[in-house]
Amino acid sequence: MTDVKELLLSRIRDVADYPQPGVMFKDITPLLADPAAFTALTDALAELAVRNGATKIVGLEARGFILGAPAAVRAGVGFIPVRKAGKLPGATLSQAYDLEYGSAEIEVHAEDLAAGDRVMVIDDVLATGGTAEASLQLIRRAGAEVAGVAVLMELSFLPGRQRLEAVLGGAPLEALITV
Ligand code: PRP
Ligand code: MG
Repeated sequence: MTDVKELLLSRIRDVADYPQPGVMFKDITPLLADPAAFTALTDALAELAVRNGATKIVGLEARGFILGAPAAVRAGVGFIPVRKAGKLPGATLSQAYDLEYGSAEIEVHAEDLAAGDRVMVIDDVLATGGTAEASLQLIRRAGAEVAGVAVLMELSFLPGRQRLEAVLGGAPLEALITV
């Protein structure tokens, strides 16, 4: 493992039985509070965006905002928030997706993405892949192209990678660390 990966991993805290019994929550707040680790993470995500030719970064509410916004600034590209339904004031595209129990909906301002854009999606965790997959549908429905998906951490005991690779059309899924 590289020094950067070790640093990032060392700043993620496992919280048992949160938000419900049996779940091991991956808490990134120690990483965010450490300027060396947060800078290394921002640099790594920005480098992935640049290397894959992204012209825009989409961040997924909420933790994808924290990681995606500084990466966009560092990469010199625009930042587009994909929000949970009902939070954006303008004309939106909406995408529903299934959760383990129930469903969820995310939205983007329609004017923020268009043909000619190459979009890198950034989030903290890839679990089932449902949130990221829905964001890819939004990006494509807006006429934009998917440059890839970049996450801090991939949960290898869930089938998120298989799910996402099936819809990425050859674009990369980059996980800085796998747990
Ligand atoms: C979490 C996490 C990812 C998503 C991953 O977000 O931050 O966005 O779940 O799960 P999936 O791969 O199964 O879709 P969540 O909406 O729980 O919380 P947040 O608003 O704090 O980011
Ligand atoms: Mg999230």
